[in-house]
Amino acid sequence: MLQTKITELLGIKYPIQCGTMMRITTAQLVAPVANAGGLCCLPSAAFPTSEELKDEIKKTLDMTDQPFGVNVSLFPALTPRSPEQVLDDIIQSGVKIVETAGRSPAPYREQIQGAGLIHIHKVARVRDAIKADKLGADIVSIVGTECGGHPSMEGVTSLILIPKAAKEINAPLIAGGGFCDGGSVVAALALGAEGVNLGTRFLSTKECPVHDNVKKRITDSGEADTVLVMQSLQNPSRVLRTPWTEKILELENKGASLEELMPYVSGAVSTQGWDEGIMEEGMYAMGQIIGLINDVPTVAELIERIVKEALEAMDNVNRLVNT
Ligand SMILES: Cc1cc2nc3c(=O)[nH]c(=O)nc-3n(C[C@H](O)[C@H](O)[C@H](O)COP(=O)(O)O)c2cc1C
Repeated sequence: MLQTKITELLGIKYPIQCGTMMRITTAQLVAPVANAGGLCCLPSAAFPTSEELKDEIKKTLDMTDQPFGVNVSLFPALTPRSPEQVLDDIIQSGVKIVETAGRSPAPYREQIQGAGLIHIHKVARVRDAIKADKLGADIVSIVGTECGGHPSMEGVTSLILIPKAAKEINAPLIAGGGFCDGGSVVAALALGAEGVNLGTRFLSTKECPVHDNVKKRITDSGEADTVLVMQSLQNPSRVLRTPWTEKILELENKGASLEELMPYVSGAVSTQGWDEGIMEEGMYAMGQIIGLINDVPTVAELIERIVKEALEAMDNVNRLVNT
């Protein structure tokens, strides 16, 4: 069985997290992941009012009796309400797991700890992992530059970040960026992580609420089909390579200002692709792992397969060592 400090702390069956995805990890995806024994968090930033967030939590609670969490972005531009207000809603709704990301969680630790929430803090650099650990986060989550969404400016891969962070912190570590199957889960555990965070892989599942064209695009893509945009804004984002992102890179290379880039990088333009499958305009966060994704299973099929493969991979390694 795959049991670690993470499964114990979170009360989940497998140390597998479907990474928070803005607008995508709604109840429709969070609940099946929870029911299949993994962890998934609702992105609170996608629910601008207290009422909307509480409704989505209620909807999720109606679909699963297993643990799930809520992600609180501490990045100012992404939070229509203050993190304290969002945390209040989470506490009132009875959800016990909170994932913070984007800034130091220091100002919110007292509120989180006082309410007895299990606190995951997500980072992209080892020094931020150490800070989160010192602040008392129950679990630290780190993502390498391969990841879909926001890696650090430093371009360091998961293979380096995971063992370094695992050695430097006391809290159990969740590793993300470039994971999709049982072999990579075992690799993360071997490097010192106690859980894995897979975002892009879950985009291509039956329950994931994005258009089928997006899933097809993922299964058709290769490992070199993503690019890092917005590095010039000190806010890098790994996204699917399209003519639109080539245009963004061209503008960035010419030294374009935020105002000039805004029409291209604003999240608002991307909704058409996720919802209608028309991906000519907008940016679509995806990690390099798209090169290894070839199918669209259900969430339960995916999680069961990853666990089975992980157990087989461990047997294979043992066999190699013993022969
Ligand atoms: C479409 C998409 C949206 C994402 N949105 C968020 C988000 O809102 N908040 C966050 O903390 N991480 C976000 N991420 C990052 C994921 O939670 C996860 O850390 C990452 O996808 C893991 O790397 P992988 O894509 O290689 O599996 C997003 C990733 C993707 C692919």
